[in-house]
Amino acid sequence: MSTVNIKIEGIPYQVESGLTILEAAKKCGYEIPSLCAFNHGECNQGSCRVCLVEATGARGLVASCVYPVNEGMEIRISAPKAIEARRRSVELLLSNHNKNCQQCDKNGSCELLYVAQLTGAREEAFAGAHSEVHIDRLAPAIVRDTSKCILCGRCIERCKNAHGLGILGFENRGFKTFVSPAENRNFNDSPCIQCGQCVNVCPTGALMEHSEIDKVDAAFKAGKHVIVQAAPAVRASLGEEFGYPIGTPVTGKMIAALRRLGFEKVYDVNFGADLTIMEEGTELLHRLTEGGVLPMITSCSPGWVNYAEYNYGDLLPHLSSCKSPHEMQGAIIKSYWAQEKGIAPEDIFVVSVMPCTAKKFEKQREQLKVNGIPDVDAVITTRELGRMIKRSGILFDRLPDEEWDQDIMGDYSGAGVIFGVTGGVMEAALRTVYFKLTGKEYGKVEFTEVRGHDAGIREAAIDIDGTVVNVAIASGMKSAKILLDEIREGKSKYQFIEIMGCPGGCINGGGQSYVRPVFLPKESDDILDTYKEKRAKALYSEDERQVIRQSHNNPQIVELYEKYLGEPNSHKAHELLHTTYAAREGFNEI
Ligand code: SF4
Ligand code: SF4
Ligand code: SF4
Ligand code: FES
Repeated sequence: MSTVNIKIEGIPYQVESGLTILEAAKKCGYEIPSLCAFNHGECNQGSCRVCLVEATGARGLVASCVYPVNEGMEIRISAPKAIEARRRSVELLLSNHNKNCQQCDKNGSCELLYVAQLTGAREEAFAGAHSEVHIDRLAPAIVRDTSKCILCGRCIERCKNAHGLGILGFENRGFKTFVSPAENRNFNDSPCIQCGQCVNVCPTGALMEHSEIDKVDAAFKAGKHVIVQAAPAVRASLGEEFGYPIGTPVTGKMIAALRRLGFEKVYDVNFGADLTIMEEGTELLHRLTEGGVLPMITSCSPGWVNYAEYNYGDLLPHLSSCKSPHEMQGAIIKSYWAQEKGIAPEDIFVVSVMPCTAKKFEKQREQLKVNGIPDVDAVITTRELGRMIKRSGILFDRLPDEEWDQDIMGDYSGAGVIFGVTGGVMEAALRTVYFKLTGKEYGKVEFTEVRGHDAGIREAAIDIDGTVVNVAIASGMKSAKILLDEIREGKSKYQFIEIMGCPGGCINGGGQSYVRPVFLPKESDDILDTYKEKRAKALYSEDERQVIRQSHNNPQIVELYEKYLGEPNSHKAHELLHTTYAAREGFNEI
């Protein structure tokens, strides 16, 4: 590693060459305010001018997020001219900003407010015209409000990096510039997969999840039987809303909080995940042994399903017909559970707590209704649950650890827990497929060859007593596209593929807690590289602690089939637990 000698505020330091001033200063213990720069240059427009400093060798002040350090450079962050310029830059941003912070769901994690405080910016410093406002509330998953946009471009870059999609871009020029899907369309009228990755990186309230907290409140008010189910990945991130280190599992406290919020039953979606494995594993075996369409591709990620319907309509027969775990569980709550409890399905309101914004889109699909009744009535994200807990005055860290409700669907296996990580659905399915093919359990339990926590493609050849199953895993649509094009060209060597919409899987979903280094002083500097791995560990450790680690060994799943569904892939199971897909006209080009 080559290094250079620099001085910051007159103090000598030796730093890696090639770093920007912003990065070098951080390593030396200085925080220069910044806004548009994000994640090691993932976004580096150099447009906000919030990071200006004095540096020798440069004419005037320089944007520290794009200017590299060089030998002998002397940097002054505290030069009066730099302090004044940074403050002015933030004041300019505030002058064209809708400052209704009290009503803004980003309040508490807003980077604009943070740099305003850091620089001492005064909101009223510049008065003048405001640019035209565009608000899109039509999409079930995401809301766009340009009155809060600082034109940093992070959302544009994230959509490209995660998915190879360019849904968002800058429209118009100069003062009239705004961020939007092409031609100022709304998200619903574009091939946006509603994954929420852009929401995760937006520093302000310009992009937010479409909140459904009001719907949940209304259901309580209407006296419905309000049942909640929480997805595996939520427990690995919810603690971050309350200051816990990233990757701290908070399952017991989350259950206690949900109970105190008034939910009648608190269930784990892991039961639904076990059910998915029973159905999907059986479907895979049928396809393998009876000449069905291969490779079979998992279908539990609605962001991925959206992508497939927009862009690969010809490949839809490859998708498993299984509903996603929370939809399966919702369907069981409104049928079997309702029957056992003697409650009419219309009087039940199912709320799913999800790491994912695309689940808000998924739950309103016509194909996910049974007799006109949706399986799930509302989806709230990990962040929305955090807000509900806070507004109710619950002190999260003082809660006791409680257990899920145990009746009817309280048991779950370790296989269900790992659904939240890329490779997890594949591993869970393999544990059951191995048993179904050989009649015995896989001795090692874990198929570690399919594990990982980042985007990109992983592949493995799994030998099941002489039958080799070639598998591949992709997360983020950029990676998925490679596998899909191979299938289209007839070159795919795989029998089973897992695809997740968000890079790293649900632990990195668009509804998880924001990972903002500025608000995480106790986390290490490389937190943006390591947070997915930390959250994944929280789920793998829960899997290891489970006595039952295969879906087919979950006793309540066995009972559900004995008493109600018959067998996996039965007529009744198909009616309740399987779905269909349809190519969506108009967006078949990427
Ligand atoms: S984006 Fe930030 S500054 Fe703007 S209204 Fe929301 S909290 Fe306030
Ligand atoms: S929701 Fe996903 S697909 Fe849509 S614009 Fe944002 S990042 Fe792109
Ligand atoms: S919507 Fe958010 S991320 Fe996108 S340019 Fe505006 S402020 Fe930046
Ligand atoms: S953070 Fe440097 S110009 Fe925006």
